[in-house]
Amino acid sequence: MSVRVERDDAVAILTLDRPDALNALNVETLSDLRDELRALSDDVRAVVLTGAGERAFAAGADIKYMHGLDVGAAKEWGALGQETTRLLETMSRPTIAAINGFALGGGCELALACDIRYASAKAKLGQPEINLGIIPGWGGTQRLARVCGIGVAKELILTGRIVDADEALRIGLVNAVDDPVLERALETAHALAAKGPLALVAAKTAINRALAGDAERNLGAEADDFGELFASEDAKEGLAAFAEKRDARFVGR
Ligand code: COA
Repeated sequence: MSVRVERDDAVAILTLDRPDALNALNVETLSDLRDELRALSDDVRAVVLTGAGERAFAAGADIKYMHGLDVGAAKEWGALGQETTRLLETMSRPTIAAINGFALGGGCELALACDIRYASAKAKLGQPEINLGIIPGWGGTQRLARVCGIGVAKELILTGRIVDADEALRIGLVNAVDDPVLERALETAHALAAKGPLALVAAKTAINRALAGDAERNLGAEADDFGELFASEDAKEGLAAFAEKRDARFVGR
């Protein structure tokens, strides 16, 4: 398998495992990642995505594979990447990227699809596809613009410039720079795993709508979800626990 899956209590750690190719994503690796995300067991409460070895989170889509793809095959390849990034973005558990080195092209797009991104001080991020005569195809044009703003997205995607961890932090591309980055990601993942899963998924879904579609409708949907959550055992428990000055015990109902 080109994606390693480990468990740390309620947290699943998925490691892209092709270090000889700086974890570049070929069909096998990307399909494995999608399949492992789909197959996570119900008791997984948070997901951390990282790369094997010392050098890379993922240095991009596999350029050797892409070389020579025709339009039909390229569209299928793009669709597989979009399916996988969409899963990271919309799945019911929070997803955290632990960016331990290069996150370029498709690697940066996988990270952008995660809910939270932490970078090692040696990380380097960017969308250099323009240098290959192509563009990001796994959601990078939309998500980089949403995460960092249109001005930053245009500069980085049009020039293909790669940024270091400090700049990534400054432009909002990562939430924090910390080493060891996997430890930082796990700390947050465990904190999220202890929260009410219904509220987490409602918050994630609502935030995903923040910059998409009609703001009025999105606010309406947020209001509906907010109200409906009050029917859940978890909301009753969470609200009661605060009043009773104790930790809440969430059950996912
Ligand atoms: N696709 C396929 N193979 C890749 C790859 C990619 N995106 N990125 C790295 N590799 C492979 C290299 O071909 C090399 O394999 P080899 O030893 O069989 O030749 C191995 O990973 C190590 O990479 P190398 O280029 O030798 O390391 P480096 O330290 O000199 O450079 C990078 C590191 C990341 C700057 C360089 O590998 C690079 O520019 N990669 C492509 C980045 C990119 O454009 N990504 C977007 C793709 S859409």
